[in-house]
Amino acid sequence: MNLLIINGPNLNLLGKRETSIYGSEAFEVYLNKLIKSYPEDVLSYFQSNSEGEIIDKIHNEGFSVDGIILNAGAYTHTSLAIADAISAIKSPVIEVHISNVHKREQVRHKSFLSPVCRGVIAGFGLDSYRLAIEAFKLSE
Ligand code: DQA
Repeated sequence: MNLLIINGPNLNLLGKRETSIYGSEAFEVYLNKLIKSYPEDVLSYFQSNSEGEIIDKIHNEGFSVDGIILNAGAYTHTSLAIADAISAIKSPVIEVHISNVHKREQVRHKSFLSPVCRGVIAGFGLDSYRLAIEAFKLSE
């Protein structure tokens, strides 16, 4: 499968940022392990702190990849524009979160993205991304 992982704002700081919530592993280290676990698949990765760049990436890849795994960070809770971008494309999107957002502050319980995503995986640390790959593989 050809899958794209998109990480949104502040997720470039994984491994350094609020490690009690998000863990101490840098995303690039985890990603290398993922790539090794799925040698037959193409896993590409994009991170941006900017809403517009995330939308452009969804537009540019969302008619060709088999699926997008999207952790939009805090934009999850604010961005109707990212939700509209997901609605506009053909590739299915799985929303992922490292933390269990439903165990956290009320403001993190609302997602603009969930209604337009195939499904949501939250609370399994970085393995939320692996579970999203497995979910795409189940529907292959
Ligand atoms: C997050 C949860 C969001 O509420 C937060 O703003 C993030 C990370 C997660 O992966 O748990 O930046 O998406």
